[in-house]
Amino acid sequence: MAQPPALARLAGVTELCPNLNLSTSLPKRTDAVLLGMATINQDEPALVGTVPDLDKAYQKAFGTSIAAMATAMGAGAKEGTVTSLPGVDGTRILVVGLGDADVTPDGVRNAVGSGLRKVAALEDVEGLAVAVSLELSDPELIQAAGEGALLGAYRFSAIKAEADPRAVAAVTLVSPVANAEAKAAVELARVIAEAVCQARNWTNTPPNLLYPETFAEAARAALKEQKVAVEILDEKALEKGGYGGILAVGGGSSRKPRLVRMSYAPRGAKAHLALVGKGITFDSGGLDIKPAGQMAGMKFDMSGAAAVIAAVQAIAAAGLKVKVTAYAAMAENLPSGTSYRSSDVLTMFDGQTVENYNTDAEGRLVMADAIARAGQDQPDLIVDVATLTGACMVALGLRTSGLMTNGEETSDLLLDAAEAAGEDFWELPITEHTRNQIKSTVADMRSGGTSRWGGALVAGAFLERFVPEGIGWAHLDIAGTADNPEEAYGHTPKGGTGVGVRTLVALASQLAEG
Ligand code: BES
Ligand code: MN
Ligand code: ZN
Repeated sequence: MAQPPALARLAGVTELCPNLNLSTSLPKRTDAVLLGMATINQDEPALVGTVPDLDKAYQKAFGTSIAAMATAMGAGAKEGTVTSLPGVDGTRILVVGLGDADVTPDGVRNAVGSGLRKVAALEDVEGLAVAVSLELSDPELIQAAGEGALLGAYRFSAIKAEADPRAVAAVTLVSPVANAEAKAAVELARVIAEAVCQARNWTNTPPNLLYPETFAEAARAALKEQKVAVEILDEKALEKGGYGGILAVGGGSSRKPRLVRMSYAPRGAKAHLALVGKGITFDSGGLDIKPAGQMAGMKFDMSGAAAVIAAVQAIAAAGLKVKVTAYAAMAENLPSGTSYRSSDVLTMFDGQTVENYNTDAEGRLVMADAIARAGQDQPDLIVDVATLTGACMVALGLRTSGLMTNGEETSDLLLDAAEAAGEDFWELPITEHTRNQIKSTVADMRSGGTSRWGGALVAGAFLERFVPEGIGWAHLDIAGTADNPEEAYGHTPKGGTGVGVRTLVALASQLAEG
C-alpha cells in the first residue's frame, strides 16, 4: 500500500518548495509575473521590473502601458500591498509595494512573500510558473527575493485521502545579472527556504503522527542526503546514559522519548557550534495538567527541535565551513500512572540534582540534559532553541523572540546573525535575583521560581546551570513566535513559522567566515 500523504511528508518524501531559477529574461512560459512599485526620489511611485515584450503585448491588448495601468488601478509603493492587474497572453500580473528605492533584504523578502502568498492562494490552479522581476542585482537582495518567494509559496497540504495539488511549481527570479555570485545567492535562498519549510511542516504535523520515534526518523530522513552523522538514542540508551530529565518528562507517555544527535564536521571548519532544540511533541502539562484552552496549540512545542534539525540540513547543504553538533531532545508530556511528579528529585545527565517544581515546566528539563551533553563535546558556543515559557510570549508578543546569554559577546553575535537573517530578537537579562529563586533545600536546585513573575528569566537562570564553565551560551525562547495564530503576513503563514532556522544558518555562516 502506498504511504498515506501525511507519513510521506513526515519522511521528507514530498517536495518542500517550488523550484527556484535565475534568468536575465522572462521565461517563455510565465503564468504569473510579480513586478514592484517603489518611491524613487520622493516622486510618484514608479513601476520596477517591467519587461519590454510584456509591455508590448499590453499596449496591443489594452492600448496602455503596464505602468499606466498599475497607477490607474491604485497600485502603491506601500510595503506589503499586492495589486492584481488585468493579465495578458495568459500571464497574470501582480504588483507588490517595495517602499522607497533603497530596499532592504527584509523589505524584499516580505514584499515578494506577500506576492507569492497571493498567487499560492489562488483556487483551482496547479503547477504555475511564476516570475519575480524586480531589477535586483545585489546578491543579498537576490537571496532575500528567493527566500521570500519560496516562503510565501509555502502551504501545509492538509492530510486528506488525495494529496493537494501545488499551486506554484516553479519560481524564476528575473535579474539584470546572472553571474556566479547571483547564482550562489539563489542556491543559498533555496537551501534556506527548504529548511524553513521543513521546520514549518514538522510544527504543523499533528502529535498523533509526529511523536518522538517518528520525529527522530523524520530527522534522519531529512538529513540522509547530507554529510551529517545521525545517532538516535532510544529510551534504553537514555537510561544507560543517565538522561534523568528527558526520561522523567517522557515517562508518562507510551510514546518513548528520544535524543537525536547530529554531527556535521567539514574539513577546514573555523569553529565548533553546538545546537540544542526542545522537541516536546505534545505538551499537555503532565500531572500539572493545562486547562483545555491552553493545551490546544501544544503540538507546536517541538518547534525548537525542528529549527535545529532544519538548520543542520541547510548548513550542511550549503557546505558551510563550521563544525556543528546538534541535539534534538524529544519527549511527549502526558499524565499517566508512570508520569513524573512535582516534588520529584531528578538526577540529570551531568549529575546535578533537580527538585521538580511543576510537571508543566518540562522543557527546561529535557533541555538541561541536552545542553549538558552538548557541553561534553567542548564546542565554542552552545545555542539552544525552545518554545520555553508563556512568560516570554507575554513579554515580547508574537513577532519577537527572546534572547538570553552568558556574555555580551555572545549576545552581539546572535543579534547580528538575527538581523542579517531578518528575524526579530530582543535580549532579556538573567539577574542575580532570578538565580536566587531556584534554590532548593532538597536538591542542587529547583526547576522553577517562587513567584510567577519573570518566568522567562527563571527558565534562563535554570538552563545556565547546565552550561560548562568557559563555553559561550545563548538561549532563544521562541514560545511566542514559532506558531502564528493570526492571519498570514509577508512571507509568514498562519501556523508554524520555522522561526530560528534563518538565524542559526546566518550564525553558522558568520562563524564560518572566521
Ligand atoms: N510549552 C510551554 C510554554 C508555552 C506556554 C508556550 C504557552 C506557548 C504558550 C512550557 O512547557 C510551559 O508549559 N511553561 C510553563 C512554565 C511554568 C509551569 C513554570 C508556562 O510558561 O506557563
Ligand atoms: Mn509545559
Ligand atoms: Zn512545553
